[in-house]
Amino acid sequence: MNREDARALMTSFLEKESLRNHCLATAAIMKALAIRMGGNPEQWELIGILHDIDYEVVGGDMQRHGNEGSRILLEQGVNEEIAGAVRRHNDLLHGKSDILVDVALQAADNISGIIIASAAVKGGKLSEVTEKTIRKKFKERSFAAGCRRENVEGITRFMDISEFFTLSLGAMQGIRSDLGLS
Ligand SMILES: [Fe+2]
Repeated sequence: MNREDARALMTSFLEKESLRNHCLATAAIMKALAIRMGGNPEQWELIGILHDIDYEVVGGDMQRHGNEGSRILLEQGVNEEIAGAVRRHNDLLHGKSDILVDVALQAADNISGIIIASAAVKGGKLSEVTEKTIRKKFKERSFAAGCRRENVEGITRFMDISEFFTLSLGAMQGIRSDLGLS
């Protein structure tokens, strides 16, 4: 499976534009993290694209989220490494994981929302978001409150948080037209 196949599969399961963009943003960060952390960039990008594939199918049922995604992916012939990461990313079901790709996905999944919300505040201009903006919004717990800061902080075992913010922002700015941002 390549990036385009993964994207086509993801959009066939997810109608909502914001959810699609969330998956693409998470994927861009995952690819950059793989390069930084010694993971497999192509695979980590696919995991990012596919991680929430079941979101509309389970309709907010967090007891099924991730498990259902993994089942869908295995049925589509996606490998267990990808399907396993998708399953485990629901830490409410599977608990905290020490596996490198899982720590990366937890962090990418949660910072992408803060960065998208930061761009929205600036009229959709991701180019005007800086590392400083993210640092400030990260501390403001009521901002994009669904983004779990403690899951972002897991990444500090591998790099300091400001490096992670910069890396994530750069990765998302690199695909900003895909995200419908300027
Ligand atoms: Fe997600």
